[in-house]
Amino acid sequence: MGEGLDVARVRGLFPALADGFVHADGPAGSLVPESVAHAVGAAMRMPVAERGGVFPASGRSEALVSGARAAVADLVGGVPAGVVLGPNMTSLTWTFARALARTWRPGDDIVLSRLDHDANIRPWAQLAEAHGVLVRWAEVDIETGELPAWQYDELLTRRTRLVALTAASNAIGTCPDVAAISARAHDAGALTYVDAVQAAPHLFLDQARLGADFLAVSAYKWCGPHVGAVSAHPQLLAQLTPDKLVPAPDRVPDRFESGSHAVELLAGVPAAVDHLAGLCGGDEGTRRARLHRSMDAVARYERELFGQLTGGLHSMAHVQVLGSPIRSTPTVSFTVPRMRPRQVAAELARHGVCAWDGDHYARELFDAIGVNDDGGAVRLGLLHYNTVEEVDRLLDAIAALARPR
Ligand SMILES: Cc1ncc(COP(=O)(O)O)c(C=O)c1O
Repeated sequence: MGEGLDVARVRGLFPALADGFVHADGPAGSLVPESVAHAVGAAMRMPVAERGGVFPASGRSEALVSGARAAVADLVGGVPAGVVLGPNMTSLTWTFARALARTWRPGDDIVLSRLDHDANIRPWAQLAEAHGVLVRWAEVDIETGELPAWQYDELLTRRTRLVALTAASNAIGTCPDVAAISARAHDAGALTYVDAVQAAPHLFLDQARLGADFLAVSAYKWCGPHVGAVSAHPQLLAQLTPDKLVPAPDRVPDRFESGSHAVELLAGVPAAVDHLAGLCGGDEGTRRARLHRSMDAVARYERELFGQLTGGLHSMAHVQVLGSPIRSTPTVSFTVPRMRPRQVAAELARHGVCAWDGDHYARELFDAIGVNDDGGAVRLGLLHYNTVEEVDRLLDAIAALARPR
């Protein structure tokens, strides 16, 4: 399986896999390869100082920031001058929500989706309320887990200022047709803010093809450190006025970045993108070209592995899988009647499986499905370091839940 991707070699890159657990908790955060840990450690050992000084240690910091911008630009198909860096996707989204809301007028509207992680809902919803802006909701088909693109024809108005949506659900994996929805949003004159946090570890991203005016990612989901980034066209950034301290730089993209950077963590961002680009497909061409080949191979490998997982889950009478989207990342949530998700996760942990339970911050989605009062659902997610044998172990552990204890 996984022609091209040598998973045994890949696993050797991750010291943390030595704990012997099946790490099916990737949607909450991936493990880190040695190359990333090394890059972060090296940045902490070398002389670095705050940016903006005239001595070499300060220049090193500047280089770490530039390196991280260039790496994220390669990852998403953006330009380094349009990459805003920050502690995580959530705080950057608050920053952008505040900046964009300054351009909204009472009576305008925005379109949010019930499929999204709360980080791409609440900042917009709260700022909309504060500015007298109406929120319209794109709904999920509860049976399939799809977010149909056609509904945007009715949701968009001539006063829609923003469409915020996810490129992949963190709870049930659904990949909506972002390009089709963005095209409709642009026809209506709205901007798009696309949450690619869960798409980035699994798919080759092309910001222009997705039609994402803003594209958000988070490096700890793709084997990097805890760093968030938003990519946008520098000209678009130049039109916005974020909150900022008076002496802080006014240039783009720096003016969206509050306070000092965690430069040692930024050192891990190029290492993580290099890791993804080097997973498979050789070392010919630019990093972006290598990423394309590598991520295509990763997607093929993960699709097969995920087929094994969902096939197994669907064959178990005591398991209820939430949704079955046509296009998805290898992420699935399920419930077991008469067992709380926390209890299921604890049983899986006893069998050596790391799995999350709860609402996974997909609060709107799980309210719509109706599982929140019962503790949400158990979520399993696969990454390029998971194996066929691990999925077998996982399925055995879930099958064991049906047997009397
Ligand atoms: C789809 C999605 N969006 C946003 C976030 C928030 O990311 P961060 O932790 O970088 O704020 C997450 C985190 O799990 C996520 O899965």
